[in-house]
Amino acid sequence: MNKRLVVFGGSGFVGQSIVNQAVRKNFQVISISRGGRPKQYDSWMDQVKWVAADVFEPAEWQDQLMSGDVVVDAIGILTESKAKKQTYQNYHYELVRLVVEQLNQKTPSLFVYISAAHGLPFFKGYLYWKKQAEDFLAMQSFPVSIFRPSLLYGTGRKYSRTMAKAIKGLKKLPFLRAFFVVIQPTSVDLLAKNIVETIEESLEGKDDAKRETSHS
Ligand SMILES: NC(=O)c1ccc[n+]([C@@H]2O[C@H](COP(=O)([O-])OP(=O)(O)OC[C@H]3O[C@@H](n4cnc5c(N)ncnc54)[C@H](OP(=O)(O)O)[C@@H]3O)[C@@H](O)[C@H]2O)c1
Repeated sequence: MNKRLVVFGGSGFVGQSIVNQAVRKNFQVISISRGGRPKQYDSWMDQVKWVAADVFEPAEWQDQLMSGDVVVDAIGILTESKAKKQTYQNYHYELVRLVVEQLNQKTPSLFVYISAAHGLPFFKGYLYWKKQAEDFLAMQSFPVSIFRPSLLYGTGRKYSRTMAKAIKGLKKLPFLRAFFVVIQPTSVDLLAKNIVETIEESLEGKDDAKRETSHS
């Protein structure tokens, strides 16, 4: 597939899995993140253009964005740090507005947004601002695909498999099931495969009837 994906947060846990799958499918891939190329090495990484840029500094990445066909937003935070301005509002919503604004009327073939299936206990605002971003994207004129994963696990995040196993176990205990029932641990590589397949289908015009597609 000779199309270009611009993946914001392509060096992260979810982002790397998406970028890896996309490279396997012969997409050209540009990843944008502050650190640029990930620290650990894998040969597929040589096929990616790793751009070191802060998403809140559009001058650092706007030309990359304009060169792409598909935009993927895989940036997000688990916990807020108000001192560093790392708030859910900024990371889950304002950055989406910023990227769309920087498209400057250019319509991407598809905009993929990684939302979430549910909020996090004690982290007020995590899901609220993701929903705000979803609503904002639904108003745009270009096709949008929203993915709403639950807890993700994979080799890229050491503790994630242990956590997924523990949650599966806790769900079997009748008195705890109610607390954990919404959490459906999923493989990050499976999510990434679904995302890349959706991108391929969208580019092939297979889902023309659905302007906005959602995936849980
Ligand atoms: N992991 C899960 O279980 C899970 C479940 C449901 C939904 N999600 C969603 O999936 C998305 C990705 O999560 P993740 O677990 O992959 O997070 P992650 O591993 O922390 O990755 C975040 C990525 O964003 C980049 N980034 C952060 N701040 C940035 C900035 N200011 N400018 C440019 N790049 C920036 C990071 O690279 P640098 O630090 O180098 O900039 C990294 O590439 C999030 O929206 C999250 O809410 C995750």
